[in-house]
Amino acid sequence: MNQDLMVRLFRSIEGDPDDDLVKVAEKIIADEKEKGHLRLSERLKGILSRNVATHTSFKKELKTLLPEGTLIPTDKRNNIPLASLIERESLRHEMVLPKQTETAIQRIEKEYVARERLAHFGLKPRQKILFYGSPGCGKSMSAERIAWNIGLPFLKVRFEAIISSYLGESASNLKKLFESIGGYPCVLLLDEFDFIAKTRSSGHDVGEMHRVVNILLNLLEDFDAPGLLIATTNLEGSIDKALFRRFDDIVEMPKPGKEEIVRLLRNTLSSMNVSKSLQYDELAIKLIGFSAALVVKVANDAAKTAVIQNCKIVEKEHLIKALNDNIKYNNK
Ligand SMILES: Nc1ncnc2c1ncn2[C@@H]1O[C@H](COP(=O)(O)OP(=O)(O)OP(=O)(O)O)[C@@H](O)[C@H]1O
Ligand SMILES: [Mg+2]
Repeated sequence: MNQDLMVRLFRSIEGDPDDDLVKVAEKIIADEKEKGHLRLSERLKGILSRNVATHTSFKKELKTLLPEGTLIPTDKRNNIPLASLIERESLRHEMVLPKQTETAIQRIEKEYVARERLAHFGLKPRQKILFYGSPGCGKSMSAERIAWNIGLPFLKVRFEAIISSYLGESASNLKKLFESIGGYPCVLLLDEFDFIAKTRSSGHDVGEMHRVVNILLNLLEDFDAPGLLIATTNLEGSIDKALFRRFDDIVEMPKPGKEEIVRLLRNTLSSMNVSKSLQYDELAIKLIGFSAALVVKVANDAAKTAVIQNCKIVEKEHLIKALNDNIKYNNK
């Protein structure tokens, strides 16, 4: 098997020591070592042991931190949970980011992991993070990837449940949610957070929304839970300045550059046979300006066309056609 594929396959192993897959993976490592592929076997061993360690500590944390029945309050009238817990297996985490953005996100992860050492010196990790940038560039995915990497449960706030049509209840829903997760280490995602923030000036339900934003300002200010709070928005400009100030870190998610586009294409097509004559660089230049999501869509569309046409190989023509079909979605 191609080495890159093998590495990707190993990264996707969840790491439950009782899982047969882990045993098969150990056997593959031993086989590769026997064949004299020492570097590869060491690399695979490292990936596997990291996944097993993360899985084990995650399981341990889940047991101590999810006491039955204490999680996630619901909205009083409709009994809808105010946040959803997303299972670890469903978290998207294989990302392609420009170096600067990758470094910024790793910094958040490293500070969380080092939180106890930081505390010895009276320091606190970055805890309240805002991701902004154009649609489809990995804002929500970055939050999921952080939860995956630091092994915390992932909770997504459900604004449709928080914002109640009953006067006064939106604010109390918000308070109830923050109170209930106060002692619970998790990554709490306020996705498309501008939904609340921009309503402050929209003139819609003015009194109620004012109260909600003010409550949110206070909750953000006082947020001292043992996990992370991550908010995302498409539009930096539409966020209330007072809200901006309350974050410990603000990270821009840019559109992918040429190098990232090539990696996105390669990753998305990694399970396909791709024509050897395909010039990824040339294709990437044509995709500059596309969001990461759209680049992934172009590659997937090309792969699907090849399969439907019973072609054994994804050709440049499949990709060019997919690019032309998707151009209409660019900048939307
Ligand atoms: N940096 C990235 N690396 C790999 N895939 C990416 C990246 N960014 C986006 N994608 C792809 O695009 C999809 C959408 O990404 P995501 O939901 O994070 O976008 P977003 O920035 O939150 O967009 P929106 O503003 O519309 O909510 C992902 O499921 C993934 O397939
Ligand atoms: Mg999003």
